[in-house]
Amino acid sequence: MKNIQIDLSRISTFISASEIDSYKASAEAANKMLVDKTGKGSEFLGWVNLPTSISTEEIDTINRVANDLKSRAEIIICIGIGGSYLGTKAIIEAVSNNFSFLNKNRTEPTIIFAGQNISEDYISELMSAIKDYSIATIMTSKSGTTTEPAIAFRIIKAEIESRYGKEEASKRIVAITDGARGTLKALADQEGYSTFVIPDNVGGRFSIFTPVGLFPLAAAGLNVESFVQGAKDMEVATGEDVPFEKNLATIYAAARNAMYKKGYKIEILASYEPKLQYIAEWWKQLYGESEGKDGLGIFPASVVFTADLHSMGQYIQEGERTLFETVISVGQPNSTVTIEKIAEDLDGLNFLAGKRLSDVNKMAELGTTIAHVDGGVPNIKIALPEINEYYLGALMYMFERACGISGYMLGVNPFDQPGVEAYKKNMFALLEKPGYENDTIEIRKKL
Ligand code: PA5
Repeated sequence: MKNIQIDLSRISTFISASEIDSYKASAEAANKMLVDKTGKGSEFLGWVNLPTSISTEEIDTINRVANDLKSRAEIIICIGIGGSYLGTKAIIEAVSNNFSFLNKNRTEPTIIFAGQNISEDYISELMSAIKDYSIATIMTSKSGTTTEPAIAFRIIKAEIESRYGKEEASKRIVAITDGARGTLKALADQEGYSTFVIPDNVGGRFSIFTPVGLFPLAAAGLNVESFVQGAKDMEVATGEDVPFEKNLATIYAAARNAMYKKGYKIEILASYEPKLQYIAEWWKQLYGESEGKDGLGIFPASVVFTADLHSMGQYIQEGERTLFETVISVGQPNSTVTIEKIAEDLDGLNFLAGKRLSDVNKMAELGTTIAHVDGGVPNIKIALPEINEYYLGALMYMFERACGISGYMLGVNPFDQPGVEAYKKNMFALLEKPGYENDTIEIRKKL
């Protein structure tokens, strides 16, 4: 089987191999800190050895409960936000057929998402859209108290209970939450929902290999074993004993820190496969929330080419030179479409006759890479052999591991997110939530 590979050859005109090598020792030390638990936020390192600790029994239980849920519903609504949503959406979108929702004979339930916003139109349109379908829900919240998913859950729970009655509703609702604390845990126990636990020592954005990611994947009919196997293999391949030159996580972390120190403050994650859009959204949360603190951190951005070459392409080519690009380059598509030759070449496309669309896409990728490098944008290539559960598991674990290493190299605590509280405090103050009386007085002075 092919492996994921990283190619730094197109950053070499911006940063020399010896400069990157000078980060080798700190990258390796940071990787060791993740294992020895000697760095900041070490109480949240449960994700590091998570893939290799997942047992066959755990996966069997997940598949069994997911099969039961699937058998009851045509639509499963996954409720959650941030780390309790993005990874799940990313994998389901990446692995599923783009147009499976149009397939009248589909056997797997359609997965839709709620609780990732507070838009009245979104939830209202969702409730109307599901009217004629049987439904179930997966409510994911580690804290069990996050406002956005809690509001969505209140609405969807009421709908399920009014349609099916309390007893059947308890079989159509699965909760994924903290093992002991939080209102969701108490509610799930009281109502008798099947519940899966998010370990205390795994933070939201690092939780894709807990039931947060695994259970919805099983409910969507995806191959959980393969996803976990990819992560397991990558956990071994990025271990603290794996030499720098062979370790994708240390290489990637060292390269991006070297870039940052040279003034490249924005990293754009690009791909030429629209199915990977949410992988980039997940990656943005992972790196943005982990590194953006103490006045530091690369700003993570993303684009999907070639669509965004017709929007962001101009800026990337000629705008301020503080960007570098990391391209997830997919080796093989899962389908074949060949461009036919036509007698009258009215559209002038016969020069492409006999080529596959992926051949054209590859040349778009190569041409863009060369143009961007020529324009002053360093380019890191991460080669993903194909899009499937196995390689996504491997890729996502690699990004997690590199994120922990990169955060430690930067000198921050990659596992907290104190800045996220600021908006919540203001929102609660404005909504006059009990306990926020003084904040309400303070914020009113700013209105
Ligand atoms: O990474 C994180 O910790 C956050 O993005 C959380 O996942 C997000 O805020 C949702 O939190 P919870 O799962 O407690 O509802």
